[in-house]
Amino acid sequence: MKEKIEQLIAQMTLDEKLGQLTQEFLTDSRMEEMEEKAEKGELGSLILANSAMAGANEQEKLQLSKLNKIQRAAVEKSRLGIPVINGRDIIHGSRTVFPIPLAQTATWDYELIRDAAAVMAEEASKEGVHWTFAPMLDVCCDPRWGRIIECSGEDPLLGCLFAKASVQGIQGNDMSKPGKLAACAKHFIGYGASSGGRDKDAAEWSDYSLRNRALPAFRAAVDAGVATVMSSFNEISGQPATASKYHLTDILRHELGFEGFVISDWDAVLRLKCQGVSEDDETSAALAINAGVDMDMVDCVYKNNIKSAIEKGLVSIERVNDAVRRVLKVKFELGLFENPYFDEDVSPQQIMTCENIQKAKEVSEHSMVLLKNNGILPLKKGEKTVAVMGPYAEEKEALMGSWHAGGRKEDVVSLAEGVTALNGADKTVSYPCCAEDMWIHSGLSDTYIVALGESHHITGEGTTMVNIELSAGQIDCAKRAKEMGKKVIAVIFAGRPLGLESLLPWCDAVLWAWHGGTACGTAAAEIIFGDFNPCGKLPVTFPRSTGQIPIQYNHQRNELGLRWYYEQAHYVARNTASTPLFEFGYGLSYTEFEYSDFGFRVNEKENVAEISCKIRNTGEFDGWEIAECYVNDVVASAARPVKELKAFEKVFIPKGGTKDVVFRLTKNDLSFYDIRGNWVFEPGDFVIEIGKSCKDICFAERKYISLKR
Ligand code: BGC
Repeated sequence: MKEKIEQLIAQMTLDEKLGQLTQEFLTDSRMEEMEEKAEKGELGSLILANSAMAGANEQEKLQLSKLNKIQRAAVEKSRLGIPVINGRDIIHGSRTVFPIPLAQTATWDYELIRDAAAVMAEEASKEGVHWTFAPMLDVCCDPRWGRIIECSGEDPLLGCLFAKASVQGIQGNDMSKPGKLAACAKHFIGYGASSGGRDKDAAEWSDYSLRNRALPAFRAAVDAGVATVMSSFNEISGQPATASKYHLTDILRHELGFEGFVISDWDAVLRLKCQGVSEDDETSAALAINAGVDMDMVDCVYKNNIKSAIEKGLVSIERVNDAVRRVLKVKFELGLFENPYFDEDVSPQQIMTCENIQKAKEVSEHSMVLLKNNGILPLKKGEKTVAVMGPYAEEKEALMGSWHAGGRKEDVVSLAEGVTALNGADKTVSYPCCAEDMWIHSGLSDTYIVALGESHHITGEGTTMVNIELSAGQIDCAKRAKEMGKKVIAVIFAGRPLGLESLLPWCDAVLWAWHGGTACGTAAAEIIFGDFNPCGKLPVTFPRSTGQIPIQYNHQRNELGLRWYYEQAHYVARNTASTPLFEFGYGLSYTEFEYSDFGFRVNEKENVAEISCKIRNTGEFDGWEIAECYVNDVVASAARPVKELKAFEKVFIPKGGTKDVVFRLTKNDLSFYDIRGNWVFEPGDFVIEIGKSCKDICFAERKYISLKR
């Protein structure tokens, strides 16, 4: 491959090279233009979208015959026959829509996240896509930010899980295999800390916290072999990320060893002028390519300016060649030179298969988090009439979440449909909103399932909420039902943590169902009726109110030491408790798990600290438990967080059964970036905790750990 790449580069004109470094957007009206460019050997890549938000809106149906026609022009008619690579945002599903990434992370389940990514990739690969702009790896603890739905929450370890599993699912071990795509770890770097949750606002990070919180997921993606990385819009430490050589070259390429190519975000090179680091496009092009951006997304700034930038000595031809080399490498690895065309005879049934829908249901079940249950759940199927009501009772589109362009609402099962299927049509009534007739016919049922939440339109890119409280009207829905003496089960469909404090008193149970995708209504109903015992745990803190934001469990220690504000109502907040409403790692089950027999030893042979315990299922249901292991580095050369999740185990335990769980912490697990950016392990005392959440701790012991290798 290396030789072939060098041969191609040796034959390419500068225009052909710049073509490889440019991604153009495709719409019907641009077909001819794209074909012409392909034929001239000047079209490197297409984004199958007509706007940066295309994956979140309805869009033109992609026609494989048209994509093949452009490809034919590139492969069969152009001078060097270099194929075009088609990218698209397949974020949480193509036809079969999976729970949003934040929800997928609530499964704490490598296999499920990997399988979801594999299904997405497989479906998309039949629909004209070679490359997806996923996974999104921004770390975020601000639910006001609409894009929190796309990420894996506030924890670096869960970020790494999501990164590895997604890259493996999307790319497999060999991207050229049928059904596989190139992945893109985005947005490098720091975007998740947009000030005030305002999308695309500047992000304030110290190098120390950036490395310890935002970098680990990208490191995991690079280690997993991610083919591409997208630079982010935000400014960071005085530089837009698109122009930051420090982040894109020094850290990403040199420190992490990334060998794929970097693409800019939509129009981001052009926008360097708006960000005030350049006055003209030529300077912007030079800044971005010299920083380490290899491919320019849609704005054509590279194509139109790099030639003159080279003439003026602002950009070297070696840097251009290096970028082309990286792009061609991914095209070879994808097998595009051997198999450039899509099969045009694929039927919709071959794309959205029953197995795929079943997988979406499984992921959705595992992602849902039971926040409250006074014993009312699970309900018995068909025993009594149940009313499903509220604004999301019959809703379908919102359940698919923000990036669902390939999904169709007619494929989605609503909550009312899911409940009807299990409880029987004769024992289920549903009302789409809090309609008056619902209250009039209230004699029909004493159990109300109230479907609440938020629209997908107020989540995702370009959205910010200044107030995350659930609307008063929705709270009133539950309140009114409760005041009428009903049993109230709230099922909440949302993309971000919402303020639920004033809702809770009116509910006997609350099931957090997320924007859970195509099979979400079925999954929620199966949990309500006990066909599935809930096991999801929160990957992000749920604040009591908007004023608590930002809030995260793994905050830096302060003068209160380990008496963290997250747990203690200190002087930190006088007009509300300072504790969150639901903590990171929290989630109920229908059964009870009892932890015992804490053990600790340093296994010198394998050079790991082994922490163990037994977990017994003492309740009435079989179930999954996620056991969490937290660590605090008692004294270090830099201030460390009050606690950090370092390991977890998800285990299935039948009722009455016991499982031994062993967490194995390596030297790497206990290392951190010091204030000079060195990756260090500092032997010493660590407080080790095992718990059911970051707050519900069963054991806490202080141990000396020194690992050699
Ligand atoms: C988003 C990216 C996305 C790109 C292409 C941008 O506006 O920030 O996440 O991949 O558009 O659609």
